[in-house]
This record gives sequence, structure tokens and C-alpha cells, in this order.
Amino acid sequence: MEYIVINGQKPLRGKVSIGGAKNAAVAIVPAVVASSGICIIENLPAIEDVAKLAIAIEGLGAKCRFLDKTTLEVDASCITEYRADYEVAAQMRASYYLLGALLGRFGKAEAPMPGGCDFGYRPIDYHLKGFEALGATCEMEHGMVKIYAEKLTGAHIYLDCPSVGATINIMLAAVFAEGVTQIENPAREPYVVDTANFLNMMGAKITGAGTETIRISGVEKLGGGRYTIIPDPIETGTYMIAAAITDGDITVENIIPKHMDHLTAKLRDMNCIVEECENSVRVYRGGPLTSCDVKTSYYPGFPTDLQPQMATLLCTASGPSVVTETVFNNRFQYVSELKRLGASFKVEGRTAVSKGSCVLTGAQVAATDLRAGAALVLAGLAAKGETTIGNIYHLDRGYECFEEKFRALGADIKRVSINE
Ligand code: EPZ
Repeated sequence: MEYIVINGQKPLRGKVSIGGAKNAAVAIVPAVVASSGICIIENLPAIEDVAKLAIAIEGLGAKCRFLDKTTLEVDASCITEYRADYEVAAQMRASYYLLGALLGRFGKAEAPMPGGCDFGYRPIDYHLKGFEALGATCEMEHGMVKIYAEKLTGAHIYLDCPSVGATINIMLAAVFAEGVTQIENPAREPYVVDTANFLNMMGAKITGAGTETIRISGVEKLGGGRYTIIPDPIETGTYMIAAAITDGDITVENIIPKHMDHLTAKLRDMNCIVEECENSVRVYRGGPLTSCDVKTSYYPGFPTDLQPQMATLLCTASGPSVVTETVFNNRFQYVSELKRLGASFKVEGRTAVSKGSCVLTGAQVAATDLRAGAALVLAGLAAKGETTIGNIYHLDRGYECFEEKFRALGADIKRVSINE
């Protein structure tokens, strides 16, 4: 069993370089299935989910080769299988993107029902409704989603909510559909734009990604090519918040500052200085932290994936704050672990209220999911004394080399293995 051990209250100072976006990578790697050529994907984050997806597409017949830690070469021309391996694909939620890519390419697809998370029920009904609008039939059997279409025909699809997964999955299925597919009320997250750009690089005809309407004109075939994934906005935000919560001074490099407007605005509301350059931001306090309210929303609103990290920062600021989670119905599970460190919140449904000015002291805690784990690391970095964090496999899914990156900023943090 591995743990992270932190001795806190050290202001983090220096520069940190951000890796590729996890939520773009876990869409673009499966999207390679739609290609009939060779793709080289650069700036992939070196995380578990990417490694597992490479194994999943190899299981379909693709030839995969990591040219280095962050560059994957895939020859998808030899893919013949349309059924994703249950054992491999069931390990992560993003394997549902294989459904859209395989359906687009073969007119049929089978993949495991995606698991839930510790923050509530996460259905894929919008994905399936989109596939059905294109002419597919969808069934669930023995834990597998089975989809079949005689023919895929362009359709006008309205999403009840701007689901990132459904938007990307419908795009993947529609690239070969005859005619034009229009997705109304799509997700506008940078990951959606990145996936559309990747598909267009291969020869797809997608316009409007990142706007209120995406149009996909079906094509016969997709080629290969080279593509570089965008920097991870959530990893970026985690380090920006780390600077604020430890009263440090961090320059976060290799990023797209525009993608961080939501967090930059909130940090400035909290009396932090955020200096923006072309592909970096520098964050430090301009004085004592003051509180503010945060309400998560779909992009370009404040991202739910930074909610746990932001709530942790807010509870240490002076003054009350209200955090409202509008995207998921139960994303405050981490609060019970934060309370062991001295954080105080009153959670009611989708709202968490903190009086602020919490004094954090080290304790033994455990991550309940990926971003909850990040919040606990931030709390440990700010806490007086030693914090031990268990279940860090959650963190390894989405944060590459996080203890090395934090250590390089001056954190007293290490990973220890304790035999059962
Ligand atoms: C993506 O999940 C991200 N995961 C999540 O990041 C992120 O929190 C989420 O988008 C919202 O930004 C990946 O990209 C792999 P949604 P996704 O579909 O696509 C409901 C992280 O920590 N919904 O945008 O699954 C859903 O329950 C992870 O990196 C349906 O009801 O999220 C939620 O309430 C956590 N039916 C809302 O829509 C559906 O068919 C938004 O979910 C699909 C979604």
C-alpha cells in the first residue's frame, strides 16, 4: 500500500511545468480508433488512465508504441475488433469513448458500462440518446453496452445538459455518419475543442467546437497524423491554488492562461496576485486571504474539477464562504476527510458553507477520488505537522509526478510503501 506523507506549512516557491490535459488525452487516445492510419500524439500526461487506454486499444488490434514518456504512436489501420476488453476497459470511466469511436468506424461497438465515482450516479443516457439519433440501437447486457447501426445518418441532437462525455462521444460517432450532424447545447470545455481539432487533423469536418452549436459533416475515412494535446487546466489550477494556500509564490508554466480565467478571477477576489504571461501565470498572495463564494458550472464557468481544491483554500481564508456544486449531485464526500485536518464545513445537498479561518493540522486521511485527493494534498501542504494520505492510486490516475513537482517547489512530501 502506498501513502503520501507531508510535513506542511512550507511556502511553495518556484516554477512548475504542466503536463497534457487528462480529460483531453482520455478522449483523443480512443479517438485514434477512428483513424485508418498512423497517429503520433504528443504531450500526453504520464498517468495511469492513458496507459490503460493504450492497452485497451491494443486489445482491439492497434499497434501502440510510447516513443517517450509523453508521446504515443498508434497504427490504427490494423484494428479489427469492435468489442473492448471488459477487464481493461472497466477500470476507467473514459473507456466509454471507445463506444463512439468503434460505432463510427465499424457500425457496432461493445464496451463495459462505465463505473460511477465517489460523487454520485453518473449515467450515460445522453451518450446513448445521441447514438440512437444517428440511427443506432443500444442495449445493456452482462455489464456491457452493446451498440449496433445498419447505417449512421447525420441528425440534429439537443443535449439536455452540456455533457463533456456525451458531446465528445457523439462527435466520435458522427464523423463518418452520412450528411450533417448538429449538436445543440454541447459542452464547450477545452477538451471538446482539442478532440475536434485532433479529428479535423485526421480529415474530419467539424466546426463550432467550443460554441453553442457543433456541426459535423460525415466523411468516408480518416487518415493519421501528429497532434499535441493541450495543457491540463485542472493540474494548472491545482498548482495555482497551492501557491495561495501555502502563502508561496509559484510560476505555472506551459499553460493556456485563457483556460484559467474562472480561477484567476476567484483568486484575485481572494486578495491574490495573478500575473499572466503568454503561456504561464505567477500566483502569490497580495495580503491576507479573504473569502468569496464559488458556484461550479459548465465551461467557461468555474470547473467542478477544481471545486474540492478551491473549497480547501476557502476554508483557510478569513470570512465565510459558500461553495455550490451544480454539476454533480454529491461531490462533497471529501469534506469528511478534510474535517480530520481541521477544516470546518456545513454541507447541505449541493452546498458547503465554511466559516473560514480554519487552522489545519496534520492527520491521517484517505483520498475518495482524484480531485478529492488533490484537495487533501493541498490541505496537508498547508497544515501544521504531518499528514498521511492513503488511496493515492486516485491521484496517480490524473496527476503526473505530483510529489516530485511539489518537492521541487519546496514541499516536504514523499511517497512511502507500507507492506500490508
Ligand atoms: C467529464 O466527465 C470529466 N471526465 C470529469 O472530470 C468532469 O468532472 C466532468 O466532465 C464535468 O466537467 C472526463 O472527461 C474523463 P459530464 P463526464 O457528462 O463527461 C450528467 C476528473 O476529475 N450526465 O460533463 O462524465 C452527469 O451525471 C473528472 O477529471 C447525465 O446525466 O461528465 C453530470 O451530472 C471527474 N447523463 C453532468 O451530466 C449523461 O449521459 C455533467 O457530466 C452524461 C452526463
